Amino acid sequence: MAVDRVKSRRPLQRMEDLVSLCARRGFVFASSEIYGGINGFWDYGPLGAELKQNLRGFWWQRVVRERADVEGIDSAIIAHPRTWEASGHVEHFSDPLVDCRTCKRRFRADQLDEPCPEAPGERRVEACDLTQPRNFNLMLETRIGASSDAAAIAYLRAETCQPIFNDFKRVREVARQKIPFGIAQVGKAFRNEINPRNFTFRSREFEQAELEFFCHPSEREKWFEHWREERLRFHRDLGFGEDVLRTRPHAPGELAHYAKAALDIEFQFPFGWQEIEGVHDRGDWDLSRHGEYSGKHLGVTDEVTKEHYVPMVIETSLGIDRLALALLVHAFAEEELEGGEQRTLLRFPPFLAPVQVAVLPLSKKLAEPAHALERELRRRLNVFYDDSGNIGRRYRRQDEAGTPFCLTYDFDSPGDGRVTVRERDSMEQVRIASAEVGAYLAERLAVPA
Ligand code: GAP
Repeated sequence: MAVDRVKSRRPLQRMEDLVSLCARRGFVFASSEIYGGINGFWDYGPLGAELKQNLRGFWWQRVVRERADVEGIDSAIIAHPRTWEASGHVEHFSDPLVDCRTCKRRFRADQLDEPCPEAPGERRVEACDLTQPRNFNLMLETRIGASSDAAAIAYLRAETCQPIFNDFKRVREVARQKIPFGIAQVGKAFRNEINPRNFTFRSREFEQAELEFFCHPSEREKWFEHWREERLRFHRDLGFGEDVLRTRPHAPGELAHYAKAALDIEFQFPFGWQEIEGVHDRGDWDLSRHGEYSGKHLGVTDEVTKEHYVPMVIETSLGIDRLALALLVHAFAEEELEGGEQRTLLRFPPFLAPVQVAVLPLSKKLAEPAHALERELRRRLNVFYDDSGNIGRRYRRQDEAGTPFCLTYDFDSPGDGRVTVRERDSMEQVRIASAEVGAYLAERLAVPA
């Protein structure tokens, strides 16, 4: 088969095109869609679930497994309610809210420079009949057990890091770690956002991958720099260049209630530069407060100098859903081929692609040996098997799913023991021995060192 060549390529311009591809291919779509969806909640289908799994895995590999000075945990989503008093969330974790007296909608007071949903062509929200701003707490409440009084109220965690502070003492002891060291976890967080928007970017349920790194007060700047560099290296390894990645330090007035210094790692989305990860110097805020509220002292004593102190915390806080969205935006391309045909593709870095290789027999008659190859590859890779439709259409389906390699098993394959490997971006094809396919793919799918 003649190899196609790319004549021109267009990156993503309108979010609608990505939203539609994500629903059509089942990456991510409205949660409870049979009931009309639920604002701020999203479900990931088979391809999206694999993509997120690969992202989490890469983060865990880099932040936990490759380091002797970081331990991983997996805490409960609901912590003792005092946790959120100590952390300052009950008192401070709010956004300014205004109500529209006409349409009864609610808006964030700092996001009024937008078209009014009732009269988009006529006015901005700021020109509507609005109430004075008041604080709206973003934590989602639930009740524990059978009693219905106020004592039963608990919160779904608003950030994954608070249980890390609760567990600090035990983890340090069981892992026999000394300062400096870190504790990491990946998991769900919940915020009752006033205006969820920009697809999954601002959701009410989302996933965070957080590291809390505990150090001596004299070393906080050093570790802040270290983790800033490490996190940027991670994002660059996802293929993000300077055109789409930048850092932005917070101005003093912008800092969260716990932060002494903070830096956003931002990605260029079609809707502007936006934060995907934060690096924060939280000082001793969390350990001191949890010490105070729990009555358990969370300080440490240096074995050599006998100095007693509360460790400082450097935090890296990544949104897995935001990162998945950034990857989808970055990977999306529409190409015109030399023959005039169009194709849509997702140019994921191969090691993160949801499906790593597709096995495509040219005819159903070749099913038996093609399935044998598929079974062999499935032991190590995520494989998709497809024997329906013409081969050009099957390639296009894989391009749209972001599959980096397709293996075509043809009528010569049983005789010469070779298959054709087709690469997604260049569409180049090479014929190699089936026995070498595993090594060939392993080299090209390797996670960056
Ligand atoms: N523990 C610190 C913390 O939670 P944050 O800046 O509020 O800091 C960290 O959140 C990251 O979590 C953000 O950079 C973003 O990637 C993600 N995130 C926060 N709110 C989100 C939301 N409503 N929807 C999706 N992701 C969110």
